[in-house]
Amino acid sequence: MQAKRFRRLAVIAALVQPASARAPRQFNYDESAVPAYELPDPLVCADGSRVKDAAGWRTRRRPEILELFREHVYGRAPAAPSELRFELLEEGEPGVEGSAVRRQVRIHLASDVSLDLLVYLPRTTADASPAFLALNFYGNTSVHRDPEILPSRSWMGDNADLGIVDHRATAATRGARAHRWAIEEIVARGYAFCTVHYGDIDPDHDDGFQNGVHGAFDPSGEERPPDAWGSIGAWAFGLSRCLDYLEQDDDVDAERVAVMGHSRLGKTALWAGARDERFALVISNNSGCGGAALSRREFGETVARINEVFPHWFCGNFRAYGPNVNRLPVDQHMLVALIAPRPAYVASATQDRWADPRGEFLSAKHAQPVYELLGASGLPMGEPPSPNVSVQGTLGYHVREGKHDVTELDWAHYLDFADRHLLATPK
Ligand code: GCU
Repeated sequence: MQAKRFRRLAVIAALVQPASARAPRQFNYDESAVPAYELPDPLVCADGSRVKDAAGWRTRRRPEILELFREHVYGRAPAAPSELRFELLEEGEPGVEGSAVRRQVRIHLASDVSLDLLVYLPRTTADASPAFLALNFYGNTSVHRDPEILPSRSWMGDNADLGIVDHRATAATRGARAHRWAIEEIVARGYAFCTVHYGDIDPDHDDGFQNGVHGAFDPSGEERPPDAWGSIGAWAFGLSRCLDYLEQDDDVDAERVAVMGHSRLGKTALWAGARDERFALVISNNSGCGGAALSRREFGETVARINEVFPHWFCGNFRAYGPNVNRLPVDQHMLVALIAPRPAYVASATQDRWADPRGEFLSAKHAQPVYELLGASGLPMGEPPSPNVSVQGTLGYHVREGKHDVTELDWAHYLDFADRHLLATPK
């Protein structure tokens, strides 16, 4: 009787918890229960031939893999809009120690869609600085307490702790996520810091793709094809438009821009770097399923579950692989491989088992043959390093102690990795 009552209470507790907190119980967290799987070989083309040199990778296999990710995972995005226009909203002395200038720029994509890019430039004698570009979850005001950061005008996820109701920022969002952004450290090391609220590009809910860039660029009145872009595709497209802006900002060296993202925005950073080769370096922080984690391991979050809970993130075709992930013509190591030979860094957290830390490590490791074919080093370690230790070649990896988050330790490793690759070859 007692046991039955406890069971019922457990069921009720499960129902009142948010989906993300409740789901893991039904999922595999046992390494010995990971199914046997065979990964598609990133160097073997669809016709069975193996690419043997950089030219074969560039002209045959890379375009083929990119196309597979477009068709089966993230969907197809439109070309850069011809109407792209940049408007300087504000420029001034920043409330960020060590930064020389704060610049806020509105990037107009269409008559009714625009992104507000916040840029902090470092104090430097260089003509143009390398930069970090990242999307944020709760508006530009959330990244720092600087009182001059303009509030977001677009949708954001409700968050009672941050005082966000009805999807609008409030005063409480100012600086609310500052702990995730090592802006002082970034500018002190000579990098510009650039960020945009992801809700400016596409609101993050299953809304039938009516708003954001989908509403502006999708053909109206037509049924959505199963390879139409989802929200990750949209956010990645937005990052490329930020790079379009940075290309014409003389204070930033657009050939040395690192794109970084956490969680769903880590998935986005990987896809942005894969499809847009102008990004010089890519950082995935705790990106998990649909990001750096290998789908075929089915450890933690699975393809079936991510499509069920976040159907708008991917293209319609991705859904078919939930029940049979082995039919996917790609796995996520091929997403990392698309970044080669540019540097890519994958980071996990020990308690973030939902994102499958080992599967994230293995994606980077299995991308290595492509890096080596292109004459770059891979990941100088066969097994994940001890917690908090960073291994760095042209691929980098660490698993931080702790939960799903971005911390100072993560940034310390990212900055060292960027120094190694972006500062070694200044223009
Ligand atoms: C959920 C989702 C993950 C995602 C994360 C986030 O946990 O299942 O795939 O990475 O949200 O973006 O916060």
